[in-house]
Order: sequence, then structure tokens, then C-alpha cells
Amino acid sequence: MNYVLDKILIKEADIRRRVDELGAQVSADYCGKQPVAVCILRGAIPFYADLIRRISLPVTVDTITVSSYGSGTTSGALKVITDMRTDVKGKDVLVVDDIIDSGRTSVALINMLKERGAASVKTCALLDKPSRRVVEIKGDYVGFSIPDEFVVGYGLDWDEKFRNLPHIYTLKEDK
Ligand code: PRP
Repeated sequence: MNYVLDKILIKEADIRRRVDELGAQVSADYCGKQPVAVCILRGAIPFYADLIRRISLPVTVDTITVSSYGSGTTSGALKVITDMRTDVKGKDVLVVDDIIDSGRTSVALINMLKERGAASVKTCALLDKPSRRVVEIKGDYVGFSIPDEFVVGYGLDWDEKFRNLPHIYTLKEDK
């Protein structure tokens, strides 16, 4: 099956406005602290790059590539493909992801960072699909709550395509 772009779901300008708001909210909540912002590669790249420039704190940056194990597990298992470099012990960590879907990635990553001794772990996701949740998690900072539609652009892919698009689009079958 091949898919092509259907409609714009969230325009670049609306993403920018919301990222400004999230950055302001994070800056206020972490006032006086030096959080570690962790980018979950690869989907979060554009969101992360925009968000950290809207955080008016001495935030430090890092990245991690993970993959949560499939449908058989509910939370625990997380495969770390490329680990972060920061020792998070005693640090306030903000996990930045493009989307919370089943919730497995976020929950497993939060558990792992807590086990490593992080003082606090919060999540910031641009998109949230609450109807797809398998494990219980509520993002601390969420850009947009969306219906269960396949979306691409602004970091999100289908078959590794469309990550570079500035807007977020829905897809349709190419008939
Ligand atoms: C996607 C997305 C989240 C995760 C969300 O990553 O970027 O990290 O899945 O899904 P979940 O809530 O069901 O765990 P993916 O593994 O597709 O990698 P990518 O970021 O490289 O696209």
C-alpha cells in the first residue's frame, strides 16, 4: 500500500504558536532549575529544536534513540538503540517526543530515567492520541490532542518519508 498526503491537519504557524506557549510554560515551571531536555530520536527533531529555543532557562540538551517492545508488553521493556550521554542522577529531566500513541515509549523511558536516579522526569509531546493508549500516561506538556488518524510531517514519518515537511498532514491511500 502506498500513501500520499491528504490534508493539512496542523499548519506551521499554529505549531509555532503552540511551541511558543509550551516553551513559556516549561520556562515558568522549571524557574530556577537547569533541566535536561532529551530529544527522542528521530521523530522529535524539529519539535525539539524549536522548543529548546523557546525555553528561557540554562537548559542542557541530549538525545536518545529507543524503541519500545511490541504489543506483548504493557510497560517495562525498552530497547535503547543509542543512549544519551548525560548522567541524569539528581537532574530534572524533560523528555521531548513528537507523539504519545500507545504510551509505551514514554512510560518505559520515564521508568528507566527514574531508575537511573533522575530527580524528576516530565514528558513534553507535540501530539497526543489519547484514544490509542495501551498504558496509562498523561503527558505533562501536550501541544495538540488529535484523533486516531495517521499523521506525517514536522518530524513524523510514513516509511521514513515526509519528516521534513513544515506542516502536519493526514495521509490517504494512493489509489
Ligand atoms: C514513535 C514516536 C514516539 C513513539 C510513540 O517513534 O516518535 O517515540 O513512536 O509511540 P508509543 O506511544 O506507541 O510508544 P518511532 O519508534 O516510530 O521512531 P521515530 O521517532 O524514529 O519515527
